[in-house]
Amino acid sequence: MAIAAGSGITPVIAIARTLLAAHPDTRFDLVYANKAAMDVMFLEELADLKDKYPSRLALHHVLSREQRIAPLLSGRIDAEKLQALLGTAIHADDVDEWFLCGPFELVQLCRDTLAERGVNPDHIRFELFSTGKPDRPEGNAGRPVIVDESQATYKITFKLDGLQGEVASPTHARESILNAALRVRPDVPFACAGGVCGTCRAKVVTGAVTMDENYALEQDELDKGYVLTCQSHPTTPEVTVDFDV
Ligand code: FES
Repeated sequence: MAIAAGSGITPVIAIARTLLAAHPDTRFDLVYANKAAMDVMFLEELADLKDKYPSRLALHHVLSREQRIAPLLSGRIDAEKLQALLGTAIHADDVDEWFLCGPFELVQLCRDTLAERGVNPDHIRFELFSTGKPDRPEGNAGRPVIVDESQATYKITFKLDGLQGEVASPTHARESILNAALRVRPDVPFACAGGVCGTCRAKVVTGAVTMDENYALEQDELDKGYVLTCQSHPTTPEVTVDFDV
């Protein structure tokens, strides 16, 4: 079962195609949310897939700005509509694996709703995209951090693509590890800078950090020491993180 919105269909259509081809017994239900019919990506590919597997693939196009014959498939997917979809159009209790891909709000709504229905989180796979254009993380552009020898600093060491980098971050600046690292290595990976996408993930090797927000890492990743560097601030004078593991 997959729930996708907008360009969130891209990984989902590949999963659907692979699963349907690989296992003759697999059934795949897809709820695909868009504003209007003209926004639907891969419309022909989805129709071809449906022609190929008419009884095993179920497509539910939900359009937020267009009236469809079924009221369930018209309007934005909110908690009420999702519950209704899961209760009627989809046999939610028979689902083995869930795939979610779309903007943060929708994916979070689905995860919360599935958790309420008792779905084991191990069977929910998701990918988030932020609707905003990726930009430099907030607080860095236009507000350069000046490191003055006389100020107290955190020493941040990081490993990225096999190379070690080091940067001093003034304690008063309350910079994120990502922002500090970007001052010396512009290729440090990030996308949303809001704790949502997980692109900036790294493992804390020495020292400790505190994280503001986390919508991307699961408990088992946190237990292993992974953090979102866009949300992490040092709490020890020296911190080392590894982006390569
Ligand atoms: S850049 Fe997206 S979670 Fe950090």
